[in-house]
Amino acid sequence: MRVPLIAGNWKMNTTLSEAIELVSGILRELDKIDNVDKVLCPPFISLAAVGELIKGSSIKLGAQNLYFVEKGAYTGEISPLMLTDLCEFVIIGHSERRQYFNETGEIVNKKVQAALKAGLKPILCIGERLEENEAGLTEEVVTRQLRSALTGIDRLSGMIIAYEPVWAIGTGKAATGEQANQTIGFIRRNISELYDTEAAQNVRILYGGSVTAENATEFMQQPEIGGALVGGASLKADQFLSIVRQTSEIRRR
Ligand code: PGA
Repeated sequence: MRVPLIAGNWKMNTTLSEAIELVSGILRELDKIDNVDKVLCPPFISLAAVGELIKGSSIKLGAQNLYFVEKGAYTGEISPLMLTDLCEFVIIGHSERRQYFNETGEIVNKKVQAALKAGLKPILCIGERLEENEAGLTEEVVTRQLRSALTGIDRLSGMIIAYEPVWAIGTGKAATGEQANQTIGFIRRNISELYDTEAAQNVRILYGGSVTAENATEFMQQPEIGGALVGGASLKADQFLSIVRQTSEIRRR
């Protein structure tokens, strides 16, 4: 059985003191919830402080991006090596990075390779845009993004995949549980073709896009969905706790 994983992607929100306040407010309750892997992905500048706060707890830490070179003259960038000291996970290929920072499939692939080499677990994001969805191209787009991101990678080594339809991110218009389950099942079959059935069975594929305390159960009940990547609702202590609790309860049934 796959242990579900809920990751909070804080995006470019929270100052250092706000990050500390948010974590302090959920730490005790979040720590107690079992049967779920809980991952917080604050901005880079808060990773160290959040890491200190969650030390000794069951909560894990992730970054939201990295650069694919180990070190050197790349002003403003953060290397995989800098992150290994601080966190276990790293979000790669989020649609906002593809859209606003011109991250191509090739760059995403380099980042995935660099993260794995450094021993980080990538949370690889893929998903179609609205016009692609409307043109019936969802499967084609996720296949292309997946295959390009995984080029040259012969083992998934703890990698997480997040299916995030772009039209559902930050819009309040989530996919239905059934839609997400169907596409995630399709992604899993792709993994089976690229690797083998064992890799496909073991990989956790999350859904992301307007997940809230109101719709969490609908997603987490689906057999293919291995958890959620939560944006907006991860900034609200009660919402995030509720999403993680609902996931744990479904798992217990
Ligand atoms: P959202 O973001 O939950 O605010 O839609 C999800 C994400 O972008 O990871």
